[in-house]
Amino acid sequence: MERISVLFVCLGNICRSPAAEALFIKKIKERGIEDGFLVDSAGTGSWHIGKKADSRMRLAAKDRGINITSKARQIGKNDFQTFNYILTMDDSNYQNVMALKNRLIYSDLCKVMKIQEFANSFQEKEVPDPYFGGGEGFDNVLDILTDSISGFLDYVVKNHF
Ligand code: 4NP
Repeated sequence: MERISVLFVCLGNICRSPAAEALFIKKIKERGIEDGFLVDSAGTGSWHIGKKADSRMRLAAKDRGINITSKARQIGKNDFQTFNYILTMDDSNYQNVMALKNRLIYSDLCKVMKIQEFANSFQEKEVPDPYFGGGEGFDNVLDILTDSISGFLDYVVKNHF
């Protein structure tokens, strides 16, 4: 079977989407199905290209045994031909990603969805941007994502395995 490819997208690719990527990788490793996936993250913006994830997010994740190692990059045209799923964190990311997708001819492989569609316990329709807030915002993002990433993995396993 071909690998299922998943790209998590936020604005800067230094807070929410690297956390989503690391959480998803942790879950597929726990289930022993990591060989079935290609997982990455990207930002719609270009400000932080090449940088490590925000230290506040890395620390909050580390406290939960989650290792965030990714370096920021910007989403590009090729991503729509590489990834089966692009999961956005908020409505603004979703609109920006869809605007890019709609300019391309060959993007049928790729399904763009909001990660919060897969939430089970949390009511939030978006993953809030923690960048300009306090430390508790990063824990909140991890709580919200832990729920929706689980829901997304269940969906993928049901549909592809
Ligand atoms: P992210 O958070 O989209 O979750 O990575 C942000 C990071 C940086 C900025 C905004 C949001 N910024 O304005 O630089």
